[in-house]
Amino acid sequence: MLFGDNALSAPEILPGEIEALLEFYTASGVDCFLEEEAIDRFALSEQQASQAAMRRSQGAPGNVPYERSQQLDGPRSSERSLSQPNGAPLNPSTTAKTAPVLGSSLVIPDQEAVESARVLASSATSLSDLRSRLEAFSGCNLKLSAKNLVFADGNPNARVMLIGEAPGREEDLKGLPFVGPDGRLLERMLQFIGLDRSSAYLTTFVPWRPPGNRTPTPQEREICKPFILRQIELVEPDVIVLLGGAVAKSLLGAQESIRKLRGGWMTLEIGGRSIQCMATYQPEFLLSNPIEKRLVWQDFLSIEEKMPA
Ligand code: URA
Repeated sequence: MLFGDNALSAPEILPGEIEALLEFYTASGVDCFLEEEAIDRFALSEQQASQAAMRRSQGAPGNVPYERSQQLDGPRSSERSLSQPNGAPLNPSTTAKTAPVLGSSLVIPDQEAVESARVLASSATSLSDLRSRLEAFSGCNLKLSAKNLVFADGNPNARVMLIGEAPGREEDLKGLPFVGPDGRLLERMLQFIGLDRSSAYLTTFVPWRPPGNRTPTPQEREICKPFILRQIELVEPDVIVLLGGAVAKSLLGAQESIRKLRGGWMTLEIGGRSIQCMATYQPEFLLSNPIEKRLVWQDFLSIEEKMPA
């Protein structure tokens, strides 16, 4: 957050410096400007929830129609309204509530956003269809601050699928997973077991970069989960590598810390198949805790043994 609009009004700041300052704010995780007058968003969401409950009790559709708020950067309707890839609006009973914020529409994450994600994801017939559906989905607020959707990279026919937690800065800029320093480390780890980007499939649980690389909230993960589940069904890997505890928790409901979980095999039942999953430390963690690499090498050896010949 950035306080007040005085921050940019100092006369001695030149246009190029303003641009650099804005870039710095964005990289630091600033996701919106605050106005002079405070908005009580807790009261706002309570008010909207009680209005929705009232409408439901009166038999009307349970959500507020999409509101286009003050536009600072021009309309980008595909980003802001919930629609199907062919442009047709989703059934109104599956659209999420929205609250106005500067320049965009902020979705109040709730069960309806999760439900609309399920409806969209479950009927995707191919990976490219799933990608288009994600591009059309506006139920996750991370999309508002991210530059690009980060869907997947690598070989969709690979037997091994690696799932990270969320994209970082370089991934967000390029729209590809694992292309930053942690990606380079991951590539070395893959090489160690005879894999590379053309023989593995890389994706990320949450496909939009959280501002300032913060950990995605449980709600954000819940909203994105139907899309990753459908992606797994479409790729049909034999082995899944879960990079980080949050991914293992969200996907398999694991309760233990990654320290306890890593190194053991778990099973994901999906699409009539049982897929073997191994959770391990995420490469980003290894960059700052290199001592733990030895454990991840062990995990990768175990993954190599599990890979079909
Ligand atoms: N880097 C990515 O690109 N994706 C992740 O999920 C984690 C790190």
